[in-house]
Amino acid sequence: MTGVAFVSGGGGGIGAALCRALAHEYLVIAAGRNRERLDETVAAVAAEGRVAHAVELDVTDAARTAAVLDEVQASHGPIECLVGNAGVAISAPIGAPQGEDHLRRHLEVNFLGAVRPLEHLVPVWKAAGQGTAVFIASSAALMGYPYVSAYAASKHALLGYARSASQELRRAGIGVHTLCPHYVDSPMTDQSVARIVATTGRSAEEARELLAAQNPGGRLVTPDEVAAATMQVVRSNRTGIVLELPGGDPLVREPGQPLE
Ligand SMILES: NC(=O)c1ccc[n+]([C@@H]2O[C@H](COP(=O)([O-])OP(=O)(O)OC[C@H]3O[C@@H](n4cnc5c(N)ncnc54)[C@H](OP(=O)(O)O)[C@@H]3O)[C@@H](O)[C@H]2O)c1
Repeated sequence: MTGVAFVSGGGGGIGAALCRALAHEYLVIAAGRNRERLDETVAAVAAEGRVAHAVELDVTDAARTAAVLDEVQASHGPIECLVGNAGVAISAPIGAPQGEDHLRRHLEVNFLGAVRPLEHLVPVWKAAGQGTAVFIASSAALMGYPYVSAYAASKHALLGYARSASQELRRAGIGVHTLCPHYVDSPMTDQSVARIVATTGRSAEEARELLAAQNPGGRLVTPDEVAAATMQVVRSNRTGIVLELPGGDPLVREPGQPLE
């Protein structure tokens, strides 16, 4: 039986590319809140002759997350690969009135929403002596940027967790990797473009160029590049790899260690 890969945020820009790539080696479960976008991903995977299923899930719902993971395994077999990709990025100045809610929201989705599925699967993975988790963090896990302190904090938390988890779980045969893309050409970046247009009066094209110029490679990262980097770490037989995606060749920030 084909192993299962579970992708949160499977209906998003990066999520859809992840599902298409993973579907060459796994039966894919695309999880998220928006059914329509999930169905588009499932159709894109099917158009390539592969199989994906959509599952509605809000990753901030701990009980539903556990239930969905159990249901998926009961119906389709063991989840062997987990991609924590669901995320939100809302910019706000430090000290804004909704500060604590804003911080909590980012931690709930970007940090807890990503690590909860791994925490749920670890006992089974330990028993099986295998399993791979990949977290789609951000360059904001490696450095700070103004007006996204909540987002950066949540992504730093994710990278810190992954660094510890990769060491702790290495001898159990479980790989934990982190990808840190700079601006990606996806709906999340479209929102940033819209914000720049609204606040500065620049055109959408100028705003997009402005963001692309902030990437070390001078261009936006493509969702397919994130998916290719994910496949690279999933196939690696190592754990703890941290890749930075600058808009150009991936940079190995941390090479990780061989799995035992
Ligand atoms: N775009 C960039 O420049 C960039 C750069 C570095 C890292 N990243 C990271 O890449 C990941 C994917 O982002 P993207 O660029 O593909 O943006 P996107 O198209 O906006 O996708 C975000 C995905 O997260 C899902 N999501 C958000 N809140 C959720 C929740 N509570 N429960 C379940 N799913 C939820 C959304 O699905 P539903 O709305 O269906 O729930 C959507 O599929 C994020 O973690 C983001 O932080 C993006």
